[in-house]
Amino acid sequence: MTLPFLQITGLNKSYATPVLENTHLDISAGKVHALMGANGAGKTTLCNIICGITPADSGYMQRLGRPYQPDSILDAHHAGIRMVMQELNLIADLTVAENLFFERLPTRYGILNLEQLHTDAATLLHTVGINELSPSQKVGDLGIGQQQLLEIARALALPCQLLILDEPTAALSDPQVDLLFNNIKRLTAAGTAILYISHRMEEIKRIADDISVLRDGHTVFSGSAEIVSTQTLISHMAAPLDESAQGETTPAKTKPALRLRGIGRNERLRGIDLDIQYGEILGIAGLMGSGRTELLRAIYGADQINEGKIYPDVDKQPLKLKSPVDAVAHGIGLIPEDRKQQGVFLTQSIRFNVSFLSLNRLTNRWGWIDRVGEHKVIQQQIEALSIKCDSLDQPAASLSGGNQQKLSIARWLIRDCPILLFDEPTRGVDIHTKSQIYGLLRAQAAAGKAVVVVSSENSELTGLSDRIAVMSNGFLTATFEQGDWTSELITAAAFRGFDAARQSVHDK
Ligand SMILES: Nc1ncnc2c1ncn2[C@@H]1O[C@H](COP(=O)(O)OP(=O)(O)OP(=O)(O)O)[C@@H](O)[C@H]1O
Ligand SMILES: [Mg+2]
Repeated sequence: MTLPFLQITGLNKSYATPVLENTHLDISAGKVHALMGANGAGKTTLCNIICGITPADSGYMQRLGRPYQPDSILDAHHAGIRMVMQELNLIADLTVAENLFFERLPTRYGILNLEQLHTDAATLLHTVGINELSPSQKVGDLGIGQQQLLEIARALALPCQLLILDEPTAALSDPQVDLLFNNIKRLTAAGTAILYISHRMEEIKRIADDISVLRDGHTVFSGSAEIVSTQTLISHMAAPLDESAQGETTPAKTKPALRLRGIGRNERLRGIDLDIQYGEILGIAGLMGSGRTELLRAIYGADQINEGKIYPDVDKQPLKLKSPVDAVAHGIGLIPEDRKQQGVFLTQSIRFNVSFLSLNRLTNRWGWIDRVGEHKVIQQQIEALSIKCDSLDQPAASLSGGNQQKLSIARWLIRDCPILLFDEPTRGVDIHTKSQIYGLLRAQAAAGKAVVVVSSENSELTGLSDRIAVMSNGFLTATFEQGDWTSELITAAAFRGFDAARQSVHDK
């Protein structure tokens, strides 16, 4: 029998409480090994140990039969092990080319050889099939999906024997996922082992050879992907769903919350007419860069519109949204896509992150924060969203990626906000929590709120929405009532905005 590339045996790691307990994993060369588990199960921690970022408390690893104990990320690189992290690590002020090669910038007589740098970057982007990025673009101007692609390209630039991908597709569109998978196939064919972390079952089914499941830091399953069923994997990941947490689902009677008329902004949004109703979930589909996020930001006053008007409901004067402060005053809340940059205060406590938007509600009549009331409200959200933590005073940075995401959702759920705009609300969230979030969003709509959800996963939108609007190239190309949509119709509408001949394309 061939020796696994990496053998992990009896690994333990504790923070305030144990995170990994007697964890084991065998990773074979030339195979894709999927690592699954609920938010906070210990997946990222395990990868950090493999990469020398965090030391284990005990246990051992063997690389091709020899002891392997990296003290730093450089040790891991020397051992042929690289990782694309769950959180992006690019430098916003540098260009695509500089980010790709900043560890080894080409120089000539000690001076940066810019021409060489751009040629190398263009070659690399071409090899990995990323044609949508240019070497001279500034990374800060890229969307989060493009940044994630760039991060992947950076890892693909260097040869390695084990590549760890920690939720690489969380911000990618379907064609970008295909691109990544082609690269993965190319690497495994050349003998590279891949450790692949994802919450998306269909991806795992597509590419995994082996699957392991972590549950509260224990390896509860390891086996061949071919024979294990989805149901078995889900049951290994967590206890069965508490259906009572899903909330009320009866649809409320709808009435207009916002009417968008002729909204335009710098070619990113073009002539958008759309009604948003109280008591419904409006899904917004579209490819990356189609204008979905821009539309939410315009409604939230984060970007100024150049054309058109937003009316609060049937008769009233248009809203003047100069900034998010105005939007919030009108009861509009946005839960952004890029939570690390815009959503979560990493050094602040869980308590602060959840309650700071609602302190006026949590203050008693003498102006003091009602700590008991605050504690209760936050605790309820932590339970409703299964946020895995040890105490409310823990800094947000110490939570797992998915649990940080849930914090920014919790914050808006406790705020009494009648119009809620969610940009990719379940990105990086595990399967069980996903359905809990769907239940909570439905409950918000059933309580009469207007809920708008942008998602890259069409299956998520079709399962959740009462109506689906499709954006393409800045246009709103279709709106579908429940029952009228199919996956093909949504996809066709997502490409229709590129058809330059068709200018005004809102087919109802
Ligand atoms: N620096 C830290 N200090 C304290 N606790 C930590 C720290 N890093 C991780 N943890 C805890 O370890 C547990 C496992 O976290 P980890 O990030 O490994 O989870 P994960 O499986 O990657 O989850 P996700 O799917 O959400 O990314 C979590 O409960 C987290 O709060
Ligand atoms: Mg993680």
